[in-house]
Amino acid sequence: MAQPKIRLARKITFSSAHRYFNAAFSEDENRKIFGSCYTPYGHGHNYDLEAFFEGKIDSKTGMVINLRDIDIMLKRAVEPLDHHHLNFDVPEFKEVVPTTENIAKYCFDKISAQLGQSGNVRLSQVRLYEGHDLWVDYFGGA
Ligand code: NI
Repeated sequence: MAQPKIRLARKITFSSAHRYFNAAFSEDENRKIFGSCYTPYGHGHNYDLEAFFEGKIDSKTGMVINLRDIDIMLKRAVEPLDHHHLNFDVPEFKEVVPTTENIAKYCFDKISAQLGQSGNVRLSQVRLYEGHDLWVDYFGGA
C-alpha cells in the first residue's frame, strides 16, 4: 500500500519594490522585453508566499512539523525582502532579475536551507503570489 501523503501549508506576506532590468540588454531591449516593469526607480507589490511541507505525522505530537518552527523559517526567509528594494538591497538580485519566478526560487532555497536534511519533513513547494491574478509555483530540484 502506498504511503499516505499529507501536506501542511503556511502563508506569510511581505512587501517589496523591484524593477525588471538586465544590464546585458540595451535600453531598447529592456523596454521591449520588460515593458512597464522596466522603470528607473521600480514599483512595489504586496506578495503572499505559501510554503508547503510534506512528511509523516509524528505519533507523539500529531504534527508533520511544528508551526512555531515554520514561522521562524518563513520570517527569516522573507525578512531581507520585506520593505526593501530587491534590486538594490538584496545581494541575490544584483545580477538576477527579481521576477516572481526568481523570488519564488529565492524563498524556496532560503526555507529549504533552514529545514536541512533532518527529520521526516520536506519543503515540497512554494507558491508566490505577486497579485491575485499572478503567481508562481516552485518545486525545487536542480
Ligand atoms: Ni512588478
